[in-house]
Amino acid sequence: METIKGLKRTRRCGEFTLADVGKTVTVMGWTQVYRNLGGVIFVDLRDRSGILQVVFNVENDKEMFEKADTVRSEYVLAVTGEIVKRAAETVNEKIATGEIELKATELRILSKSETPPIYIEENSNVREEVRLKYRYLDLRRPDMLRLMELRHRVTKLARDYYDENGFLEIETPVLVKSTPEGARDYLVPSRVHPGSFYALPQSPQLYKQLLMVSGMDRYFQIAKCFRDEDLRADRQPEFTQIDLEMSFVEEEDVMTMNEGFMKKIFKEVLGIDLATPFRRIPYQEAMDRFGSDKPDTRFGLELVNLSDIVKDCEFKVFADVIKKGGSVRAINFKGGDEKLSRRDLDGLVDFVKIYKAKGLAWITVCENELKSPITKFFKEEEINNVLSAMNAEVGDVIMIVADKDQVVYDALGALRLELAKRFDMIPEGSHDLLWVTEFPLFEYSEEENRYVAKHHPFTMPMEEDIPLLATEPHKVRSKAYDMVFNGNEVGGGSIRINNTELQAKMFGALGFTEESAKERFGFLLEAFKYGTPPHGGMAYGLDRLVMLLAGRDSIRDVIAFPKVKDASEVMSAAPGAVDAKQLAELSIKLELPEEEK
Ligand code: AMO
Ligand code: AMP
Repeated sequence: METIKGLKRTRRCGEFTLADVGKTVTVMGWTQVYRNLGGVIFVDLRDRSGILQVVFNVENDKEMFEKADTVRSEYVLAVTGEIVKRAAETVNEKIATGEIELKATELRILSKSETPPIYIEENSNVREEVRLKYRYLDLRRPDMLRLMELRHRVTKLARDYYDENGFLEIETPVLVKSTPEGARDYLVPSRVHPGSFYALPQSPQLYKQLLMVSGMDRYFQIAKCFRDEDLRADRQPEFTQIDLEMSFVEEEDVMTMNEGFMKKIFKEVLGIDLATPFRRIPYQEAMDRFGSDKPDTRFGLELVNLSDIVKDCEFKVFADVIKKGGSVRAINFKGGDEKLSRRDLDGLVDFVKIYKAKGLAWITVCENELKSPITKFFKEEEINNVLSAMNAEVGDVIMIVADKDQVVYDALGALRLELAKRFDMIPEGSHDLLWVTEFPLFEYSEEENRYVAKHHPFTMPMEEDIPLLATEPHKVRSKAYDMVFNGNEVGGGSIRINNTELQAKMFGALGFTEESAKERFGFLLEAFKYGTPPHGGMAYGLDRLVMLLAGRDSIRDVIAFPKVKDASEVMSAAPGAVDAKQLAELSIKLELPEEEK
């Protein structure tokens, strides 16, 4: 290993075992703990691999002992000595090297340390803000080291797997032309072209399609992507994709290839044999049963559509919603009566309001009666039909939402997850992998008052739905698929449009004029004129994948230097102001909102 000031590091601290007893070795690392017990000083020396106890004895070398006495937390040391077996009563079962220690014969202090602002220990309960400010110290903690190792493993396995399957890793540019992909772009001003801007890529989408036109056949890349959107626990403004594209493929080919990847990851990282193929759930079924396009199917509480049963009822709210094209749906919280107080129920009514539901009606099934604020509006037959549709038994609580479909799905989908979380309904350590398929090609944007692409504008519609493009775009399904892992979207992709006319039709349906489409995507349309193979692909969110494999619930835990909610980086305090000179070079004048001045 490495040589420092004439000392050669033998191995990492945690890598020594009983087999090394009697050997003279050199280790280098940080001081976890030091204890002076009079004639002996113990130093726990730590590096990436673990801890080794080092012993300095005054009788062996007084000068070295005195030097060891100046050592403090986080000092960086190089120590040479002999590995010896510990006496039985001093064995430390808590560390891997607990049966041995290093009897020091030479000590060098390579670097001193001020008292660190956070403890370097597993699971420290320091506030995340402080951890992020001193991230380089936070990353010394064993749990963070393990997460970084895991991320490395997954990245390496991705490179191995796609290489073994004939994919070429090709880098695509980071300074690109702004193309809409759903989120807001990060822009970079051009000095050479005053008034012009590059965008940072939201994904390598267009370039990877162009690589298929180039005949690269199979491409992949570990790609940084940038999206200026609101942050959440599973979202960062810059994140990493395992991005891939394949020529001459249909949906099944892409999905099968990627099931193989997940199988490899699960086997090599978690030691779990994943069964393939994964279940495929069409989008509409996912929404109808789970109220979500990333369903967690590890527990029940499935949605049931009651619209037909209650469409003529006297409860105006329900009847009106159905008349307006909405629906009335419910979930049955089995045995919920004894778990939920009246106050809990009121709390759940407030909970669904977060998802824009106007209320939550409930029916509690008791031994000889029903408790509910709404049963008085229903005929006995209607009630009986509801109970039987819901498979209701004594002790159950049925929860009903009536609204536009999307609101009903969002509210009950979220309620389902909330109840499962609150009442521990998700089996520990279970893994649920599936594909959601047949996504709608478009979704209506209330904000922009027009249809926007659900996945992106390059996604191939399903053949049988192409005639609906011009007439009923909302009914067109696409050849898009998402991979869902424990109720999280870990990846998604599609088969792409590979002919110019269909692509132009698609831009038309999205409200681009011929001119504006040409201005933004002209190069793609031009490329498609010269022989474009059928192609498709997908991208995983690498950060999300690692987070889920690690069983964490914050994406920040698996990113060495993540950003926080307001998109800033706490340690370096990016973003920051720049010199007037830099702005002048870019021909930029600032016009700041009042509160920023
Ligand atoms: P999509 O936009 O679905 O597809 O992104 C692919 C995957 O990337 C992850 N992801 C994110 N992770 C962290 N922070 C974010 N802000 C973020 N946004 C997305 C998700 C998601 O499944 N070019 C297409 C892929 C394709 O069609 O081949 C694309 O980018 O896990
Ligand atoms: P109200 O007639 O507004 O007092 O509502 C009676 C019950 O119906 C209350 O428990 C409400 O929470 C519930 N409720 C009201 N609107 C809806 C709705 N859109 N969907 C489901 N339940 C509702």
